[in-house]
Amino acid sequence: MDGNGRWAQQRSRPRTFGHRAGLRAVRKVVRAAANSGVGYLTLFAFSQENWKRPVTEVNLLIQLFVTVLRREISALHKNKVRIRFIGQHADFPTALLQQMQRAEALTRENTGLQLLVAVGYGGQWDIVQAAQRVVDRGQLLSIEGVQAELVTADAPAPDLLIRTGGESRISNFLLWQLAYTELYFCATLWPDFDEAAFAEALAWFAGRQRRFGCLPESA
Ligand code: IPE
Ligand code: MG
Repeated sequence: MDGNGRWAQQRSRPRTFGHRAGLRAVRKVVRAAANSGVGYLTLFAFSQENWKRPVTEVNLLIQLFVTVLRREISALHKNKVRIRFIGQHADFPTALLQQMQRAEALTRENTGLQLLVAVGYGGQWDIVQAAQRVVDRGQLLSIEGVQAELVTADAPAPDLLIRTGGESRISNFLLWQLAYTELYFCATLWPDFDEAAFAEALAWFAGRQRRFGCLPESA
């Protein structure tokens, strides 16, 4: 979800104004995903590298997460969304950790949209922590062994990655999991991304031929 800062800048407003607007886009896309029959939606909300931003911006983002979780969790629950947080959360303030745990516990049994929120997440960290668990058990490293320890272990590999904001890079998102994901980059700044933009991305995805290294059916 990239482009909040630039969206605000275009309006001569502080970056935080863009983050608040970005939240409205999150609401729209979660709804659109659930309505389109998407099984899993993973949102990259805060990367490990985002800790390097000015402390005022980091604090605002954390405050925003806490407020939003407190305010929105019952609506998500009512819509049968199961929410889970993936990433390294050791440095998070207690208030946020409590909201995260509460949200996960409340929605644990929900069978609707599986919403994964990546906060304090880094793809390199994920691979290393997974490999470390395998090593700690005294096992040899294997693809299956590492895969089973990734924070996304019980979710399928993503079919489609959408990155807004015009940059064509992964920025340490789900590095391992994206091995065969279709990559969709669009210039729309995240606060402007809505149901129509999401539908456009899905339509693009529907036109992709996926081979996973094999030959096309007709060959
Ligand atoms: C992404 O928007 C939101 C978060 C990282 C939380 P940015 O803050 O990266 O916005 P730009 O890239 O500066 O426009
Ligand atoms: Mg950015």
